[in-house]
Amino acid sequence: MMEQKKKENGVAAMAVCYEKFDPAAYLQYNYTPPRADFARKDSIVPWKLACLHRAFTEGDVRGELLVDVGSGPTLYQVLSGCEVFRKVLLTDFLDVNRQELKRWLRDEEGCNLDWTPYLQHVCKLEGRRPSDWTEKAAQLRRVVIDVVPVDVHCSQPLAPDVLPPSGADCLVSCFCLESVSPDLPTFTRALGHTRKLLRPGGHLMLIGALGESYYFAGPDVRIPVVPLDEAQVCASLKESGYTLIRLEVYTLPPDMRVGVDDVTGVFFLKAVNQ
Ligand code: SAH
Ligand code: ADE
Repeated sequence: MMEQKKKENGVAAMAVCYEKFDPAAYLQYNYTPPRADFARKDSIVPWKLACLHRAFTEGDVRGELLVDVGSGPTLYQVLSGCEVFRKVLLTDFLDVNRQELKRWLRDEEGCNLDWTPYLQHVCKLEGRRPSDWTEKAAQLRRVVIDVVPVDVHCSQPLAPDVLPPSGADCLVSCFCLESVSPDLPTFTRALGHTRKLLRPGGHLMLIGALGESYYFAGPDVRIPVVPLDEAQVCASLKESGYTLIRLEVYTLPPDMRVGVDDVTGVFFLKAVNQ
């Protein structure tokens, strides 16, 4: 088979897997205890929130527009950034996920997760009172300008005219690229496509799974993942034209391995488009 066709088939097969993505189940698996236990510092979600808090408050990240690539049904990844950027754009491939986000943004009934403990936790990281969480929720609802479709396998992942010609000032993307790529070259290419969304000198915050070959996004929805190690992440980053600032790695404690995936670790990286 021609290489081009093989590429397209792998990507098309991933899109078929995502037809059955269940936002409620996904939130339950990854965003409730033990993975989101705010009383524990070694729980995955508090670790991710601490990385993002630090990355957004070091003083080097500035501008007007933050874009979250592959938001899914989650908001935790923009809780620090929404204090730094006046505009935040959320994006996802699936309408079910965009609808989940819009329900929360409009403060409607039927949200599949209560983000209150997340808002309270990030308030604490910022040195504010946990009771300031309502103010943070209001800030997030103020700055999110839209929730739009994205496809990281397209050389232009967003519709034309969604972004200003100069691009976004900062990108965040969590558990997206490796979970939608059948192999390493596709992951690297997708990373390269995201860079086209970012202005020169803009920052990328990337979080993802290490050593993961699948995850469940519903009781019978097994999604294949390209298993990555740190060296591969760094090489892909370089190949796609980013410069690494920092890479941090979290190793899953045994009790965080709850049968919803075979992830062994999580990476956080901060990079710059220059
Ligand atoms: N960022 C969230 C969700 C990650 S799950 C979190 O941190 O938990 C992976 C996400 O990738 C899903 O929301 C899925 O809809 C999205 N996705 C699937 N195919 C995609 C594609 N081709 N381009 C961009 N995102 C895609
Ligand atoms: N948290 C969110 N998505 C995840 C994934 N695919 N693997 C591990 N942890 C996750």
